[in-house]
Amino acid sequence: MELKVLKSSKDIADLVSNEFINLIKEKPNAVIGLATGSTPIETYEAIINKAKKEMIDFSSIQSFNLDEYLNNQDFSQSYRYFMDSHLFDYINIKKENTHFPSEENYKNYDDEIKKAGGIDIQLLGIGANGHIGFNEPGTSFDSKTHITQLKEKTIHDNARFFKDISLVPTSAVSMGINTILNSKRIILIALGKNKAQAIYDTFNKYDVSCPASSLSKHNNVTIYCDEEAASLLKKELVHE
Ligand code: F6R
Repeated sequence: MELKVLKSSKDIADLVSNEFINLIKEKPNAVIGLATGSTPIETYEAIINKAKKEMIDFSSIQSFNLDEYLNNQDFSQSYRYFMDSHLFDYINIKKENTHFPSEENYKNYDDEIKKAGGIDIQLLGIGANGHIGFNEPGTSFDSKTHITQLKEKTIHDNARFFKDISLVPTSAVSMGINTILNSKRIILIALGKNKAQAIYDTFNKYDVSCPASSLSKHNNVTIYCDEEAASLLKKELVHE
C-alpha cells in the first residue's frame, strides 16, 4: 500500500480528482466505484469543477456505489440522494448507469460489476473502527455484496447526519471486502484524528478486526491521509 500524507484535505481532493478525470479522459467508458460520507465531498466538488472546465464527458461512465442503508425512513439521508446532490446532478452521467446495492439486487451486484468490466478505480473512506464500505470489524475478507448490521460505533458516528440517533438505520447493503479487492485500483482517503487509530491498524495488522487491513494484499492501493489521520504512524513511513 502506498501512503501519501498531505497538508490539507484540499490537496488530497485535488490529486484524487485528477486521477478520476485522467481515467475518464483515457477511458470514456470507465467503471468507477464511489463512496459517500463526509470524506469524499471535497473530491466530488473538485471533480465537478474540473469536469466543467475541461468539458469531461461522463455519458458512457458506469458507477457502482459501495453501500446503501436499508429501512431508511429519511430519503434525504439515502446514499442515492447523497450522490445525486454531491456529484451526479452536476455532471452528465446517465442516472441509469449509476448503481447502488439494494435488498433486491445485492446477490447479483458483484456480477453486474463484472459484466460492466470491473471497477477501474474504487474510492473509499474509512470508519473510525476500520470499516470500509459497511464491512464492519469481523467481516470475512472473502465477502461479496451482502446485508449487514451496523455496529454501535458506526450508528453513533453516522448520527450527526440525522435529526435523532433513533432515526439512523441499523442495517445496510454493502459491497463485500472481496468485491472491493476485485477493483483494479483502490484509493482510500482518511481525514482527521478520529481516523488515526484505524489508519495505524490498517498498516500494522492483517486481521478481520480492521477491515481496511485487507487492502494490504492488493497491489494497487494508495492511502491519502491528512497529518492528523497519519499521526500514529511511524515517521519513517510518512513521506510528503
Ligand atoms: C460510505 C462508506 C463508509 C464511509 C466511512 C467514513 O459509503 O462506505 O465506509 O466511508 O464510514 O465516513 P466519513 O467519510 O463520513 O467519515
